[in-house]
Amino acid sequence: MTDVDTLRADLTAAIDGAGDLAQLDEVRVRALGRKGAITGAMKQLGGMDPDARREAGQALNALKDEVAGAIEAKKRVLERAAMAERLEAERIDVTLPARPERTGRLHPISQTMEEMVAIFADMGFTVAEGPDIEDDFHNFTALNIPPEHPARQMHDTFYLPGRPAAEGQEAHDIVLRTHTSPVQVRTMQSVEPPIRVVAPGRTYRSDYDMTHTPMFHQIEGLVIDETTHMGHLKGCLMEFVRAFFGIDDLPVRFRPSFFPFTEPSAEMDIGCGRDGGELKIGPYGDWLEILGCGMVHPRVLEMCGIDSTRYQGFAFGMGIERPAMLKYGIPDLRTFFETDLRWLKHYGFLPLDVPSLARGL
Ligand code: DAH
Repeated sequence: MTDVDTLRADLTAAIDGAGDLAQLDEVRVRALGRKGAITGAMKQLGGMDPDARREAGQALNALKDEVAGAIEAKKRVLERAAMAERLEAERIDVTLPARPERTGRLHPISQTMEEMVAIFADMGFTVAEGPDIEDDFHNFTALNIPPEHPARQMHDTFYLPGRPAAEGQEAHDIVLRTHTSPVQVRTMQSVEPPIRVVAPGRTYRSDYDMTHTPMFHQIEGLVIDETTHMGHLKGCLMEFVRAFFGIDDLPVRFRPSFFPFTEPSAEMDIGCGRDGGELKIGPYGDWLEILGCGMVHPRVLEMCGIDSTRYQGFAFGMGIERPAMLKYGIPDLRTFFETDLRWLKHYGFLPLDVPSLARGL
């Protein structure tokens, strides 16, 4: 019979020397397989006398366990090494930039809305939303635009098939919202003052020419508390346009105007120049109208369930397309909605460049 110690030394050396999992498996077969060395030695036990057989049998069993354990341990070492080698071979540099030809682009309208929201968020506004499909009450009546009011004609409203009239009530017309102002109404109806929200979104009017598209975008602002006054309105909007256009000395002026839902009402102009037919934003002596605003009409507050003897505040509404065109040099409004990928590649924004005031817009 092969001497157990020799066998142990031989197999241990073979296990140590195995350079990969295939070699290790050969050693396993050589030691523990059906025709392996330990198996063979055990077969010879039958020819021994009982005492020697017991002793040799115990020694062989111990050796078998020891060798099996050593093979297992070596296997784990080799597996780990194989994994490390694979990870090294398949290494990818996740800091590499995405391939430009494969990145999508953010539409300039989305980008502009995000920039506007970022500026207002920095002043403590949160974002409110409302439905594109509105009812007459939220789009008009609650904003102090009763039926037959001429302002309804001005809006070129898209009317949708009416909601059937409930017993004893008038049928309410369903419209595509003509402005984002109904979000003011929904906000005042659902939250207690103080309120400080902006509502960016889509709006619709039946109009199509060089400067109008049937679908366009607005951002609405609403601030309601006990003390907010016209001075706050002016400061807030002045700060906004200067941050948006990145022009610290951008001149602004407020002209008296009329909106049914504000009293007093104003329109805000920003400084511009029109030299050589090109419109430039900045202190160049001329003026460009940019938004409508005012102090929320007490009747609107009351219709939305807010006590107008206690609360007051301001509102404003601004188109998004025109500021976007001015800021990003986009000459033609209609191209915004032609879904031309070449246009988007040219005017679009990288989706991971999130606008933030700290980094500049
Ligand atoms: N809703 C108006 C429009 O579409 C814009 C507007 C003007 C909104 C004055 C307001 C506001 O909130 O106070 O023309």
